[in-house]
Amino acid sequence: MLQNKQQEIEFFDKLADVQEYNVFTDEANQKIIDTAIELAQLKKGMQVLDLGCGSGIFTQLLQQNGLQCVGLDLSQKLLRLGKQQTAGIDFLQADVEALPFADNSVDRIMLSCLVHHLPNPALCAKEVFRVLKPGGRFVAFDPNRLNPFMYLYRDHSSPFYSSNGVTPNERPVLPHKVRNIFQATGLQVNSCYVDGLTYRYVASSTAKGLLPIYNMFERFFFKPFWMSPLRSFVFTYGMKP
Ligand SMILES: C[S@@+](CC[C@H](N)C(=O)[O-])C[C@H]1O[C@@H](n2cnc3c(N)ncnc32)[C@H](O)[C@@H]1O
Repeated sequence: MLQNKQQEIEFFDKLADVQEYNVFTDEANQKIIDTAIELAQLKKGMQVLDLGCGSGIFTQLLQQNGLQCVGLDLSQKLLRLGKQQTAGIDFLQADVEALPFADNSVDRIMLSCLVHHLPNPALCAKEVFRVLKPGGRFVAFDPNRLNPFMYLYRDHSSPFYSSNGVTPNERPVLPHKVRNIFQATGLQVNSCYVDGLTYRYVASSTAKGLLPIYNMFERFFFKPFWMSPLRSFVFTYGMKP
């Protein structure tokens, strides 16, 4: 199945007309970056590609941690917002299924809330493998379909599915499926589950009303270790041997 690029661009360009793309609370953004730094062993001075960077919320946080960043996205308008806010980051309009980088040339890659937008993530995974240097690492984070809230609100098969604020091809991921797709390229891959990723923004007005309850569950309910596979976000990470 192929991604409808035009539909994706129109959706995110339209969003950029109203606001930057920054859906998590500051606390959650920091937790995502800390987790990515740990899992992909991001060290000061390394070059990192932020794939699906949107308006560059995470690209900027990576830069603040001393990384040399390139943000890449389909939406020219979101990229423009990123460019206006920061100096020293290259923002490129490109497709993650055809990365404009040479083979074996990149230290680190972050796929920021991107994989669940791709109808065929294998195309992007192959590109990640191709451009990473041997020993290079990647980290991806996406909503976990095993989390009851993510499933009920965002999976197409749920009776409570809401299409408000999402593109039609977007859906939470099954962790083992993403892991298998990246593994099939030759990458060594693991999963890690993260909770406490509270939201500041959801599109639907009903969901907005329920957001404090969601955020409360997110802060406390999934904390115990044995709840870990049900946490709201899965980080898929690994290395090119
Ligand atoms: C959920 S947003 C994430 C934005 C930002 N990284 C964040 O987490 O706040 C997904 C982003 O992926 C981008 N995207 C989707 N498909 C893409 C593709 N094939 N190539 C490049 N970017 C893509 C969209 O334009 C959008 O900005």
